Amino acid sequence: MAYETILVDKRDHVLLITLNRSSALNALNAQMMGEISAALAEADGDPRIGASVVTGSERAFAAGADIKEMAELSFPQSFVEDYAASYEAIAQTRKPIIAAVAGYALGGGCELAMMCDIIIAADTAKFGQPEITLGIIPGIGGTQRLVHAVGKAKAMDLVLTGRMMEAEEAESAGLVARVVPVDDLLDTALDAAEKIGEMSNAATMMAKEAVNRAFEVPLAEGLRFERRAFQSLFATEDQKEGMEAFIEKRSAQFKQR
Ligand code: HXC
Repeated sequence: MAYETILVDKRDHVLLITLNRSSALNALNAQMMGEISAALAEADGDPRIGASVVTGSERAFAAGADIKEMAELSFPQSFVEDYAASYEAIAQTRKPIIAAVAGYALGGGCELAMMCDIIIAADTAKFGQPEITLGIIPGIGGTQRLVHAVGKAKAMDLVLTGRMMEAEEAESAGLVARVVPVDDLLDTALDAAEKIGEMSNAATMMAKEAVNRAFEVPLAEGLRFERRAFQSLFATEDQKEGMEAFIEKRSAQFKQR
């Protein structure tokens, strides 16, 4: 598929998606969100791809949903067309996604990063939910996923004041997995994605689903889900290969079956 707002680079095991509206600080319009969803769906359907990386420019991962596109939106349009609901498709992607964030990740940009599974931030990254300054509130997870990530105290602070949080604060708050110098950002994210991509896809997809369950269901249900997923992986050739390789003291060659 040809994309206009993103660049897509298929590598060994990894799909790299680069947001490409740098003149608007990668503001997320409907076309771009649709293209990100489509590229991630392509990754889900391609057995050679095990993980994706979503990144922006050095100045901005994404400075939010496109304010110019939203400015004239009416309530009926927003409600009936459910403007923001289609963006949830990104969070439904089954293979792991790493957000590699430099510069601004604001509003929908912060929410897009939170729809990914791991956020790796450059030391230049700034996270925030400034929607309140526009007379609205976050619409694609900023009042929900942010609470899971950083707790109520900091989420309330960010959502109600609209202030930005630097990478270091985001890491100590639990939003970000690692902070690296900006020049190392993409390599670090690609290395991590490559490592994930070389694992058994069935195992990484189940691991992602199981961890996400922790946010959706009570503990007993989550533990039951984890156990069933764990048990089912013994039906894969990759489990046999992984354990045989350990016993034979060699590295595993997963066949993604
Ligand atoms: C549309 C945007 C934009 C946005 C930046 N631009 N953010 N366009 N939507 N969210 C455009 C600017 O209009 C400008 O275009 C160009 O990008 C450069 O931006 P500047 O403001 O000139 O840069 P700077 O002074 O460095 O300030 C950077 C900034 C600021 C602090 C990030 O741009 C900013 O505050 N942006 C908006 C952040 C925001 O409120 N995000 C939340 C959006 S609501 P021109 O043409 O003038 O050069 C949201 C809702 C999510 O995300 C829910 C969705 C369903």
